[in-house]
Amino acid sequence: GKQTQLREVEGVPLQAAIVDNWGQIQSFEAKPDDLLICTYPKSGTTWIQEIVDMIEQNGDVEKCQRALIQHRHPFIEWARPPQPSGVEKAQAMPSPRILRTHLPTRLLPPSFWENNCKFLYVARNVKDCMVSYYHFQRMNQVLPDPGTWEEYFETFINGKVAWGSWFEHVKGWWEVKGRYQILFLFYEDIKKDPKCEIRKVAQFMGKHLDETVLDKIVQETSFEKMKDNPMINRSTVPKSIMDQSISPFMRKGTVGDWKHHFTVAQNERFNEDYKKKMADTSLAFHFQF
Ligand code: A3P
Repeated sequence: GKQTQLREVEGVPLQAAIVDNWGQIQSFEAKPDDLLICTYPKSGTTWIQEIVDMIEQNGDVEKCQRALIQHRHPFIEWARPPQPSGVEKAQAMPSPRILRTHLPTRLLPPSFWENNCKFLYVARNVKDCMVSYYHFQRMNQVLPDPGTWEEYFETFINGKVAWGSWFEHVKGWWEVKGRYQILFLFYEDIKKDPKCEIRKVAQFMGKHLDETVLDKIVQETSFEKMKDNPMINRSTVPKSIMDQSISPFMRKGTVGDWKHHFTVAQNERFNEDYKKKMADTSLAFHFQF
């Protein structure tokens, strides 16, 4: 297996390089016109980033490609020395900036709250998220080995994966709704009615787009289209970081793949735990368990 180990910040496991850079991350200076894309890992980050990009560029595919090459939406916590950190990349960007994070609310640099930034959150149903994360950890060489599916099931439920507990993440971001400018979206809704959700994102970004542009964005951000885009599918990332012969980065992009992974017993156990952990939130997912 891989030798990668996670370290914890306030009980949240993170990659060691992120923990080493924690001081710089926490003192990050947000700007009032920053838009922060927030997700738990494997919830559709790459997808929403592409949607946001296409909206920003009015559906101009070539401009989007260029934006991707420039890594326009750095993760603020990203760290892989000696490369510039996410914070340093963000500092070098012109405003208005679009940034990304997987951090739970309680670990977010305070400056984002103080500057009343816009937050775009995407939540994905937990079971598909877990399956996606499992396959991601199998192929990602800078994250720990997930072990067997049975082992991973426990690790994930206990929140001992990078960026911590799914439950804490979604509940935390749901709770700041109403107090901050946050658009809270669901992966399953984007899948079901992409045009409607893309229109919401455009409105949130203060952009009015023609129907033809909206239709084009729907087409260009489909799983099939994105899977074939070398700037998106990570085909340029070396095998020593992502071994896509184990599992592709653009894996399936479907709703309900968990049914091919969970045993009946695991599903019952999970549902019970889910009820307990979600008892103290009004956040509800419209998907079948
Ligand atoms: P699967 O592993 O279930 O296929 P993230 O970008 O946050 O890492 O999330 C990755 C998940 O989003 C993967 O899920 C990936 O296939 C899916 N995804 C990426 N682009 C997508 C798209 N255009 N439509 C649907 N799902 C997409």
